[in-house]
Amino acid sequence: MGTKPVNCDQSMLTEIKDLATKLAPRLIEIRRHIHAHPELSGQEYQTAAFVAGVLSSSGLHVQEGVGKTGVIGELQGTGKDPRLLAIRTDMDALPIQERTRLEYTSRTAGVMHACGHDVHTTVGLGTAMVLSQMAEALGGKVRFLFQAAEEIAQGANWMVKDGAMKNVSAVLGIHVFPSIPAGSIGVRYGALTAAADDLEIIIIGESGHGARPHEAVDAIWIASQVITALQQAISRTQNPLRPVVLSIGQINGGRAPNVIADQVRLLGTVRSLHPETRANLPKWIENIVANVCNSYGARYQVNYHQGVPSVQNDYALTQLFQSAAEEAWSSDRVQVLPEPSLGAEDFSVYLEHAPGSMFRLGVGYPDRLINHPLHHPEFEVDESAILTGVVTMAYAAYKYWHCPQTL
Ligand code: NI
Repeated sequence: MGTKPVNCDQSMLTEIKDLATKLAPRLIEIRRHIHAHPELSGQEYQTAAFVAGVLSSSGLHVQEGVGKTGVIGELQGTGKDPRLLAIRTDMDALPIQERTRLEYTSRTAGVMHACGHDVHTTVGLGTAMVLSQMAEALGGKVRFLFQAAEEIAQGANWMVKDGAMKNVSAVLGIHVFPSIPAGSIGVRYGALTAAADDLEIIIIGESGHGARPHEAVDAIWIASQVITALQQAISRTQNPLRPVVLSIGQINGGRAPNVIADQVRLLGTVRSLHPETRANLPKWIENIVANVCNSYGARYQVNYHQGVPSVQNDYALTQLFQSAAEEAWSSDRVQVLPEPSLGAEDFSVYLEHAPGSMFRLGVGYPDRLINHPLHHPEFEVDESAILTGVVTMAYAAYKYWHCPQTL
């Protein structure tokens, strides 16, 4: 998929690059500070205060305590375009003991920025700092959303409940990606991540002596049939071009080796990409569980809890990122990603209120054989990516109002 490069105003791109390059050393300091002081989901107090301080000193209108520990910064451009653009970055860290040997390694035992949210926050701040110095070139208002608690898939809901998406016309997001080299970005048209739902199945049989199975209803055996039936049914009754992954990750039941179990509880995660597929999954699962349980005289409960939806990137806004990055760098530094991920990302919650797109920022060291994956205790980031991220985001924001031919 190619886009025609549209140079609506090359001088603005040069200005953005100059401002970002001047800021780069400060942004690396900021990122290192956040990296050294990670905070868990919903507890981002110091990070939020730090973010609010940087935004205030750049002249943004700041609101703290949005979505619990989230922060909003608003920048009014001089342009009169009524379309409000939101830029979302997340701030939380993970319960992982860092094992890098970086001089700015986590100072908090058992907590680490292993998903790059320190970089996201820095790119959000850098973009705000750059755009605040060229407000006369902005066609409208930008609202920066610094979100808490992405890792527990709660923060976006909290932000939306507190009005973060009010009047928003489009929302842009970013996530680091270690398998793309720093200096490059990835864009994805359509589905970027999966819907992630929680599943609980309780099978209720009847206890009995292990030697006399015919007098009991064996919940463990029936649970094993349920698991097998679900996995087989995926391959035979779900469209193979519309993926569904169902993983039972936890199973509990039984009281003693010679007592037939009267109850088994299965807990799992269900991933899917297509909204229509997802909508049918609770009924589909319940039917299979019911058929197996009814065959053998067990009762059951199925509790299906919808988590975050799939991130579906808007076509025009994805094209906006692609053209911004291709103009800012070159087309060989922009990858159009052929596949989505079955991971989840609560950026999708914002997309229920406005179209949006999230791009993947390459953070891999080009000269390293191994770049550890996200959530790994040795995950590291090539910090040169911060400049790439800020220029891409800031220029995409500028183009959003000024280059309608890309939208
Ligand atoms: Ni993440």
